Amino acid sequence: MIRAAELIQRKRDGEQLGDDELAELILGYARGEVPDYQMAAFCMAVFFRGLTPHETYVLTDAVIRSGETIDMSGALGRKVVDKHSTGGVGDKTSLAVAPVVAACGVPLGKMSGRGLGHTGGTLDKLESIPGYRTELTLDEFIAQVREVGTAIVGQTGDLVPADKLLYGLRDVTATVDQLSLIAASIMSKKLAAGAQAIVLDVKVGNGAFMRTIDDARRLAEAMIALGRQAGREVVCLLTDMDQPLGAAVGNSLEVLEALETVRGRGPADFHELVLDACGKLLALSDLDVDETEGRRRAEQAIADGSAEATWNRWIEAQGGTSDEAALPRAPTVREVTAPRAGHVHDLSAIRIGNAAVHLGAGRRTKEDAVDHAVGIVCHAKRGAEVAAGDVLAEVHARTDAQADEAASDVLAAYQLADTAPHERHVLLEVVD
Ligand code: URA
Repeated sequence: MIRAAELIQRKRDGEQLGDDELAELILGYARGEVPDYQMAAFCMAVFFRGLTPHETYVLTDAVIRSGETIDMSGALGRKVVDKHSTGGVGDKTSLAVAPVVAACGVPLGKMSGRGLGHTGGTLDKLESIPGYRTELTLDEFIAQVREVGTAIVGQTGDLVPADKLLYGLRDVTATVDQLSLIAASIMSKKLAAGAQAIVLDVKVGNGAFMRTIDDARRLAEAMIALGRQAGREVVCLLTDMDQPLGAAVGNSLEVLEALETVRGRGPADFHELVLDACGKLLALSDLDVDETEGRRRAEQAIADGSAEATWNRWIEAQGGTSDEAALPRAPTVREVTAPRAGHVHDLSAIRIGNAAVHLGAGRRTKEDAVDHAVGIVCHAKRGAEVAAGDVLAEVHARTDAQADEAASDVLAAYQLADTAPHERHVLLEVVD
């Protein structure tokens, strides 16, 4: 019998729980034997008291044991790499990294999620491509990674069902932003999906779960420890999310920007982060190259067109059209112009993310439908010098009224100043 009330009380009072007690609580919840109200109270106790590193590992292991696991490397006979981001605004990194890494000869099979709130989800972005199937069977997924080099799908099979339940519960009980729970949630998915080496992009800033570099470092260390205990290699990139990544925010706009980046024509900060991630992934792969050589090969794949050819094969293998003209476009495009001359001192990621959600590009609740065509393109990023009347951004909207509202939200996200801000790179730190 699971004594849930006693475990909640002991965690509320700051006690460390025993391995079997904690594992049974999670597995019992997944079996439907522990009700939501008790698990919600437990999550809140964890929110205030935290978990020790050992408890975090036991929790992660129990979440993994609640469902199936995949041996990707065994199925392919190759070392398989994976990447994951903790979530941000304009974060289309996986879309560009997957075909570049695959073009370099390294298999990358990725299971992605949908967006909630101001952070977009890779699946929503991919679903803006007409015909693209996010639901493949496990066999189809593995076969595509073998034949094309990459596949990005929704969760296949019955992986980490306890995480699905827990995440849904945390989302409506204000217990998402707890470091141990985030680490366990992300790493349970990555470990269950079977990659041997994982590059994690931990976003830091007002548009991310982690607002400070210290918190991001702590999350990175917790996730690296979980990976090590499971025998996997994990590297964390701590990257800037005070401003949106790249220019485009919104599903089909981001797909287009990812494709442009795969062609070598992406915005500077996004291009840089894609190369950073590819360099790390190739260095962790079985190619036996260091990061500098990995980065050089990624640049080469972009320059010689092989990354774009892999993009086309990947999208078509998953039923999508590689004709970018088929991507949905919003009927109204409104320019947002600078009210004065100056330097862009700040471009708030959270404000842009929320404006995109209001336009319909993201969801407020899990049940909301996403409008794939709408979004925002931020032409001027932090550090840009603008004259009065220059275009700062474009709003892509369904109606004129929505365009007007979003345009004023976008303008409010910009802070112009007389002097240039300190230069800040997208990659802030590497933790490994
Ligand atoms: N992403 C996840 O997958 N889980 C969390 O808890 C937070 C972000």
